[in-house]
Formats: sequence, C-alpha cells, structure tokens
Amino acid sequence: MITFRDYYNNEVNLSFDDHPFSKYPKHVWVICKYKEKWLLTKHKERGLEFPGGKVEEGETAKEAAIREVMEETGGTIQEISYIGQYMVDGRNDTVIKNVYFAKIDKLTEQETYYETDGPILHKYIPAKVKYIKKYSFIMKDGVLEHCMKFIKENRFK
Ligand code: GTP
Repeated sequence: MITFRDYYNNEVNLSFDDHPFSKYPKHVWVICKYKEKWLLTKHKERGLEFPGGKVEEGETAKEAAIREVMEETGGTIQEISYIGQYMVDGRNDTVIKNVYFAKIDKLTEQETYYETDGPILHKYIPAKVKYIKKYSFIMKDGVLEHCMKFIKENRFK
C-alpha cells in the first residue's frame, strides 16, 4: 500500500492488490494506449486526463470502464486489465476507484463526448505534469506516477 496526498491535500491510498478497499468500487479510471500513444480526454472543467467516471446502477466496474472510454474518447477497447485500486479520503466523502490499463484499437468520431471535448493523443506524459495548468488534478498525484511505473514494469504494451 502506498500513501500520499493529492493536489487538494486529501489523503490517497493506492494498492496494486486485488480490490483491497472495495469489491464494488463506484468509480473507474482507465490508462489508455492507442498505437504507441497515450489516449487522454479533455475534460471541460478539469482539463487533460485519462478517461473515467462513475459506475452506473446495474453495471460492473469493468463495464463502466469500457463505456467511459467510448463516451469520452470514442475508443474501442481491444484488451483491458485491472491494475489497482485507490481510495481518496475527501472532506465530504471517500472515493474508491479501480484503475485499468486498456489497449485501444479503434477511435471513432462521436457526436458527443459528454462532459469532455474528446480524445487527445500524447506521445509522452510530461514529467512535470503537476505544474502544468492544462492537466486535470487527477493527473497530479502519486496515482499517475505509480500506475505508469507499474504498467512499464509489468510489460503491458
Ligand atoms: P459529480 O457528482 O459527477 O459532480 O462529481 P463530484 O465532483 O462530486 O465528484 P466525485 O464523486 O467523482 O468525487 C468527489 C471528490 O473526490 C472530488 O471532488 C475529489 O476531491 C475527489 N476525487 C474524485 N476522483 C478523484 C481522483 O481520481 N483523484 C483524487 N485525488 N481525488 C478524486
């Protein structure tokens, strides 16, 4: 288990074990790769981030991950792997999120990208993402850093 503070100074606990905080998390986040590039979305308020969101009633977390990637980027998932889970202790509530790594094999233009402006492809995620305004706060804590390292070390490609 790894513990750190997020952009808003809330405590975050991250683990690469199998669902350590909840078997039924209500949130998902999907680190996406499309043809050797990272596939992000541009959230209208938060800025650039990997796609994700809330698990809907009657849906599994993995189904939510697949749906959110399509809604926010138009991406079709070829392969998806659970990599870990994190818990944020917010002032009002606790958020538990599954993190997935997904390989995208097709990007289809959508009529709407919901609360985002749609897909953005990046060859690299800058090391100084924390200090760059156009990136979302959810990209600005240890979750991104540790998950990217985990993906690299586990040879997901
Ligand atoms: P809506 O109901 O969609 O308007 O969302 P909300 O703003 O209430 O957000 P949500 O329930 O997703 O999250 C509640 C709070 O948890 C946010 O305001 C953040 O402080 C925190 N939070 C949510 N997701 C993350 C995340 O991925 N990383 C970090 N560090 N904090 C998060």
